[in-house]
Amino acid sequence: MCGIVGYIGKRRAYDVLIQGLHRLEYRGYDSSGVAMITEPGELNIYKSKGKVSALEHFASNKDISGTIGIAHTRWATHGEPNDINAHPHCSQSGRIALVHNGTIENYTVLKEALSQQGFNFVSQTDTEVVVQLIEYIMDNNHCTLFEAVAEATKRVVGAYAIAVIDRQNPRQIVAARQSSPLVIGIGEGEYFLASDATPIIEYTNKVVYLNDGEIAVIEPDKELKVYDSNAIGKNKIEITELQMSIEQLEKGGYPHFMLKEIFEQPRTLADCISGRITADGKRVVLSGVIENRSKFLNTNRIIIVACGTSWHAALIGKHLIEEYCRIPVVVEYASEFRYSNPVVNQGDILIALSQSGETADTLAALELAKQRGAFVFGICNVIGSSIPRATHSGCYIHVGPEIGVASTKAFTGQVTVLAMMALLIGQMKGTVTDQTVEKIATDIRRIPTLIQDILSQSEKIEDLAKIFTYAHNFLYLGRGYNYPSALEGALKLKEISYIHAEGYPAAEMKHGTIALIDNDMPSVVIAIKDNVYDKTVNNIQQVKARGGKVVAIVTEGDTVVRNMADYVIEVPEISECLTPLLTAIPLQLLAYYIAVNKGRDVDQPRNLAKSVTVE
Ligand code: M6R
Repeated sequence: MCGIVGYIGKRRAYDVLIQGLHRLEYRGYDSSGVAMITEPGELNIYKSKGKVSALEHFASNKDISGTIGIAHTRWATHGEPNDINAHPHCSQSGRIALVHNGTIENYTVLKEALSQQGFNFVSQTDTEVVVQLIEYIMDNNHCTLFEAVAEATKRVVGAYAIAVIDRQNPRQIVAARQSSPLVIGIGEGEYFLASDATPIIEYTNKVVYLNDGEIAVIEPDKELKVYDSNAIGKNKIEITELQMSIEQLEKGGYPHFMLKEIFEQPRTLADCISGRITADGKRVVLSGVIENRSKFLNTNRIIIVACGTSWHAALIGKHLIEEYCRIPVVVEYASEFRYSNPVVNQGDILIALSQSGETADTLAALELAKQRGAFVFGICNVIGSSIPRATHSGCYIHVGPEIGVASTKAFTGQVTVLAMMALLIGQMKGTVTDQTVEKIATDIRRIPTLIQDILSQSEKIEDLAKIFTYAHNFLYLGRGYNYPSALEGALKLKEISYIHAEGYPAAEMKHGTIALIDNDMPSVVIAIKDNVYDKTVNNIQQVKARGGKVVAIVTEGDTVVRNMADYVIEVPEISECLTPLLTAIPLQLLAYYIAVNKGRDVDQPRNLAKSVTVE
């Protein structure tokens, strides 16, 4: 949540900052701001409620010169979205400006103490205490900005990535990180700073990921300096080369990132699978699992922690691992796990599943499990993000940057990796036959082509969406491997169309939810030919008998459900455990088209942000 950008060098900072804010807008978009030093002593701060385009409009007739600046796009935690609460925040004397991503837990105590020292606060944010504290330390200790930031980081409790500038010194940005991401891009005589690498890639592919507790001093034409939290030792800098292209960050002709990302899935899944199934199709190769073979062979339990869509993928992972590896799997909401005093035994494996690799709850859950002796394995998309850096081992899903707030291609990437993992562990343990592995591995390779076939039905789904755009409630029903698909279908609809939807195990419906069914409550039923197909058919009958409308997702050639349901969408036949990869596609498209019909902001739905880096 919240995106930070910084620039120092020879270019006009404003241009880099605004472009960077657009790239990071997916992290939060309720207000934004920039601060630039135009000459020593001249600090210009512009802030605006709303999206970055509102800020651009506001700044259009202002002085936007200066080759050093910091910027921020916000997802409000403390204080409503307005111009005052927007970042950058400024110290009382107007000397120091600061942007912050994260939350300061002890801000009320600090605020109180600083108020007693005569500091006045203008915003309702937790962030403002940090900038005031830095000024207070500078004034009282007669120290440099860097020394004051280092001292301030010792006094604040919470999560932060901050970038700070001093109007007296247009040749320096100081940045610090604790539990919120920060990346520094190294150019020729210039540096870039951002919450992730997307604002940096068009200028340089050389980046340094700051670690927790590190403080960076960034000065153009000088070597980057990174210190530990005590500001004593200069830390060794590890330069990473980014494997990312600008095209991945553009809409590529699609009206929304979400639609692009849905349509990209044949390719992203091909990338996800690439090199991970042997040429003869008989074995899966995931180095993170193979290198830790004994851990996976000897564990008595796997815990998967995740949030939102990743949690739904985790539920499918549970089915896969239990079926093919015979290892009990517990799936926990990361936010619940971290505060539940969980039983974690030596030998347990905890899998942290996260697209962004930055979700605060998932990160905290894995740290807790690590402290309690679990082996911690990450499955993430964003390379170099916090979760892969905090885990003992892991593997990436390799589906490329996901920009739309609603997760689509990451979900199918996660399920694909979990399927490959289950086959690999099962084969290592001998709990699955080689024939089964070969059959499913062959089917995994077919997935990109099959998804392409489903996508060719998009116009049909677009038409279907027109019929249901004005429904106020939806029920999504599924069973077995596709119960999580129902949850995910409902979440997609809710988050982008703002229509209430509930995902439910189809057979559970008769225990209460069935009372809701009438002519105005459509049910989307995943009724593919699996081991509970006949039972799901019964559930459809129960809905129809109560006047409910049914949209059914069926296996190609199905005639039984076709004669019963009001509308059907076909998906090709595939191994049962892989069906969620196919049923996800029409569910994503249905939600997308309904949201578009309702005129919603599909890529940046209200109240949401892509990476939830706060509690
Ligand atoms: O980056 P993560 O996978 O950890 O994110 C978890 C959730 O915040 C995320 O899946 C969220 O639910 C999406 N908006 C769903 O589309």
